Amino acid sequence: MTVATSAMEPPVQTPLLEVERISKRYGGAQALSGVGLRLYAGEVVALIGENGAGKSTLMKILGGIVIPDEGEIRIVGQPVRLSSPSQAMDLGISLIHQELNLADNLSVEANLFLGRELTWGGPLGLARGKAMEAKSRELLARVGLNVSPLERLSNLTPGQKQLVEIARSLSMDARVLIMDEPTSSLAQKETDRLLEVIRELRQQGVCVVYISHRLREVEAVADRVVGLRDGKNAGEMTRAQINYAAMVQMMVGREVDLHQRNAADSGASDRGPVLRVEKLRHALSRGEGVSLEVRPGEIVGMAGLVGAGRTEFAETLFGIRPRVSGQVYLEGQLGKIQRPADAIALGMALVPEDRRQHGLILAESIGGNIALPNLDTHQVARLLRFSKIRHTAHQGVTSLRIRTTGIAKPAGQLSGGNQQKVVLYKWLHRQPKLLILDEPTRGVDVGAKKEIYDLMHDLTRKGVGILMISSDLEEILHLSDRVVVMHEHQKTGELTRAQLSEESIMRLATGSQS
Ligand SMILES: Nc1ncnc2c1ncn2[C@@H]1O[C@H](COP(=O)(O)OP(=O)(O)OP(=O)(O)O)[C@@H](O)[C@H]1O
Ligand SMILES: [Mg+2]
Repeated sequence: MTVATSAMEPPVQTPLLEVERISKRYGGAQALSGVGLRLYAGEVVALIGENGAGKSTLMKILGGIVIPDEGEIRIVGQPVRLSSPSQAMDLGISLIHQELNLADNLSVEANLFLGRELTWGGPLGLARGKAMEAKSRELLARVGLNVSPLERLSNLTPGQKQLVEIARSLSMDARVLIMDEPTSSLAQKETDRLLEVIRELRQQGVCVVYISHRLREVEAVADRVVGLRDGKNAGEMTRAQINYAAMVQMMVGREVDLHQRNAADSGASDRGPVLRVEKLRHALSRGEGVSLEVRPGEIVGMAGLVGAGRTEFAETLFGIRPRVSGQVYLEGQLGKIQRPADAIALGMALVPEDRRQHGLILAESIGGNIALPNLDTHQVARLLRFSKIRHTAHQGVTSLRIRTTGIAKPAGQLSGGNQQKVVLYKWLHRQPKLLILDEPTRGVDVGAKKEIYDLMHDLTRKGVGILMISSDLEEILHLSDRVVVMHEHQKTGELTRAQLSEESIMRLATGSQS
């Protein structure tokens, strides 16, 4: 805890961790130049900045994963070299990655102790097994995750996997715990739980570094905010100075007005629905299945808690997951959708939730990734193809402000948020009849969020129907013309714009029928 000092007296506490004049270059990209940072025990420091500002790079340096070109790192005043993750861990620095680092084919417990299985608990493997299971249960309880330690990780939702990753870090007794966008796949309840966990850790003298594009959370939890812009320090705020507008200004260098959707943004809807789903069921469905409609020019929000079955519904609709029963109509015509190619042929597009796994080819260039679903439109004339692809890719990079040294850069080398933008762009610019977006702005900075929202408004003004799955209640309230709420693989209700409120959504999302 920081000791209270009078205004005249500077704090004398030695920083737990101190970073000075850190620089890092990747080929042509200067990711960090001359950055400084001080971390004290028992404080929560939020690190904010636009996509590509250098936040993850700085934290990977602290985690021993990336070696800086220049600069000094001190722990409690002592200069240190952090040249491997295990070294950083020994010094009490634990990093939870933006892109989760778990083994899908192992159990939750195996993931919690990966690489450092408990060796105590007696000579018998059985006793050790019991001890690990007990310890696992304790860790899972700390993050409020109610699954068996023996559950296979692949059966968990992205939100649940995130909690496993956090539990793993908690088990390492970190002094500095770095969380890189920990709540991006968590629903409200899990997020609240995590913020509680963070406050408990602060009480115990842990320093938590919290990277998030969700500025409301930063407001709620941070003792101090540090801003990065273009790889440089962009300023700092104390607890009393922290507010939303000031943070946006610090990150982006200007104000950003997230325009609230209104009647003028919706396209004409005198035509029939562009999508009509009747009692669609898949293997995990409960009850009679999900029915809903999306009219042209409309944004239908799909709300629910993590694990409510929204992604599974979208995957079934799109032909990724087998349909057990039910019908799908596009513009009144019964659609035979057995695989994604069928859905695409009918004018549908899906931007998946797990974009790293399903949306991007990491080794492929930005241009290649953007062009991939569009080969038919680009292949009209072979000669034209390359220049067309280049043109489209350049447009994407400019309109969504994708931070890159060029369109030839492999997508895997972009910052997390910029990868999201590439996947979004390749579908958005295609103008499908029906666009399904699964967590469209997860991990995306506030400036790009505005660009994406504006693109969505534009598409709907042109008559595109959008079904938007989002765990970000603010986003649901901000963008939806209508909201469908899911709970445990069932639809629990539907709300018109007039009926929309945080309370009405949460009531349905927790399972009470309206
Ligand atoms: N392995 C790499 N190879 C090449 N360039 C890289 C690599 N990793 C990061 N970069 C570049 O360094 C810059 C900073 O990236 P970084 O991931 O630190 O950003 P960030 O602030 O975490 O962004 P986001 O909010 O999107 O996660 C970006 O321009 C990125 O393209
Ligand atoms: Mg990052």
